[in-house]
Amino acid sequence: MIDIDQHTITQAVLAAQRKSPSPRLAQVMAGLVRHLHAFAREVELTEEEWFEGIRFLTRAGQLTDDKRQEFILLSDVLGLSTLVTAQNNAKPPGCTEATVFGPFFVDGAPRVEAGADIANGAKGMPCDVSGQVRGIDGSRIAGAVIDVWQSDEDGLYDLQHAGGSKIQARAQLVSDADGRYRFRSILASCYAIPHDGPVGDLLRGLGRHPWRPAHLHFKIEARGYERLITHVFRDEDPYLESDAVFGVRSSLLAKWVKHPATATEVEHHSLAFDFVLNPVGASAKP
Ligand SMILES: [Fe+2]
Repeated sequence: MIDIDQHTITQAVLAAQRKSPSPRLAQVMAGLVRHLHAFAREVELTEEEWFEGIRFLTRAGQLTDDKRQEFILLSDVLGLSTLVTAQNNAKPPGCTEATVFGPFFVDGAPRVEAGADIANGAKGMPCDVSGQVRGIDGSRIAGAVIDVWQSDEDGLYDLQHAGGSKIQARAQLVSDADGRYRFRSILASCYAIPHDGPVGDLLRGLGRHPWRPAHLHFKIEARGYERLITHVFRDEDPYLESDAVFGVRSSLLAKWVKHPATATEVEHHSLAFDFVLNPVGASAKP
């Protein structure tokens, strides 16, 4: 292949990668190349803009480590995370909807007993969280493994704090024989996604804000059921309509109830939220 020009380059690349031993890799890369080339043609990409893109991705890579994931942030703000989540997690009505995973999950959070305080010193007003894990047929799901993680009053996850080695406001629980779970943590606050890197520069360039409405993250796994990765959002949050990562689902809004201080209890909030899981193999196709 010589004398390739702007009109023949796409077919040349597609032909070059057609012999991949992986049919799926060949399919994915063929689609990527077609759309990438179509994008460059549509916007008449200049060489300066091409290099700006290279610089952007280089900065994102240099900033990414085991505590900062600039590429997930980029996927989130471009709506790719919500698109991929939605097209892979269609569920029958009545099941808890999935939403984006986000960049702040950490594997291996400590497993705690029911009722434990998972804040571990994180800043914020105390908040009791409880609920039940059920199947779509109403059956109680015992032994569901529930990971929960959230930001603190300052809008930061534990791993974002300087040093970042103390595990706070994240834990793993197991539902009891009745499918129930409960723990104490802190009140979720709205927060800005990290915006001191290339993704932040992009948001500013596009006139977008970096804020997310207050939420708790949950990952729930139970034998015989599809894994659920989702959030529970605080209703009345000012950023529900403009979540920087497009993750809000109306079915995931919940009311945090405020409880004034009494003789025996400090001022705190409570949240009750049940999760409904879909049996494996029962997914609804969109
Ligand atoms: Fe979050």
